[in-house]
Amino acid sequence: MQWTSHAWCRAGVLATAFAATLLCAPPAFAWGPLGHRIVARLAEAQLTPRAWAEAQQLLALRGAHHLADIAVWADDLRDTDPALFQRTKRMHFVNFHSGKCVYDPPRDCRNGECVVAVIEKYSAILADRSNSPATRAEALAFVVHFVGDIHQPLHADYRHDAGGNDFQVRWHGRGTNLHHVWDSLMLDSTHLSVAQFTDQLAAQRTRIAIGGTPARWAEESCRIDRDDGVYPRSHFIDQTYVERELPIAEQRLRQAGARLAELLNRDLASG
Ligand code: ADE
Ligand code: ZN
Ligand code: ZN
Repeated sequence: MQWTSHAWCRAGVLATAFAATLLCAPPAFAWGPLGHRIVARLAEAQLTPRAWAEAQQLLALRGAHHLADIAVWADDLRDTDPALFQRTKRMHFVNFHSGKCVYDPPRDCRNGECVVAVIEKYSAILADRSNSPATRAEALAFVVHFVGDIHQPLHADYRHDAGGNDFQVRWHGRGTNLHHVWDSLMLDSTHLSVAQFTDQLAAQRTRIAIGGTPARWAEESCRIDRDDGVYPRSHFIDQTYVERELPIAEQRLRQAGARLAELLNRDLASG
């Protein structure tokens, strides 16, 4: 998310603190750059030689060398291609309309415009060699991004608060929203680089469940929002909160990386 790029934020000194919070917080659309690049790096390290060879050919078409180089493109469209961003902005999340957290496509994914359906869609485009290389390279960029998003718990929420974008919180004395805490602030607060963070996660030995389908991954996210203390009753994000929730975020990044690798190893297997 690009807080400082908003003119309103710079004018925020004139507004009340509360109004500034609202004005300065455009709806967020993803893990921040750090989260997406970590997922991409974790996945890249788990690709088969065959999948990595084909991925490199597709990356080259986009002037890229690594999955991390294209992992944030779908969010950057907001600035680089506003028309395409408009057409794709509903693809970054899914809203469950019930705390049961059971995915119901007619209810939760109208017109196939939600993160669950588009992972399937772009995965199929990527796997189909009758598509042009450029089309498949774009599909690769979408898949890398959206597998990250679906594992950010607030991108598959059940509350009616735009995935926590409308849930105001205090973070180190200033106002922000819960979605931004999870996209960026909590991960950024580690002050680790992408490489350092990735290496730390790759060294973790606790088991993670791979496999499943995008619908199951989204349901997991929804249950985390419901059951695991993601929504602080006090609206204050303190150290206790971070100590409890950061390990959950890290677990989601590791799952996203492993599952993205599994998906790419399948889609890029033949050829
Ligand atoms: N807008 C509405 N719901 C959202 C969500 N879960 N994540 C990001 N943006 C949203
Ligand atoms: Zn996104
Ligand atoms: Zn987001």
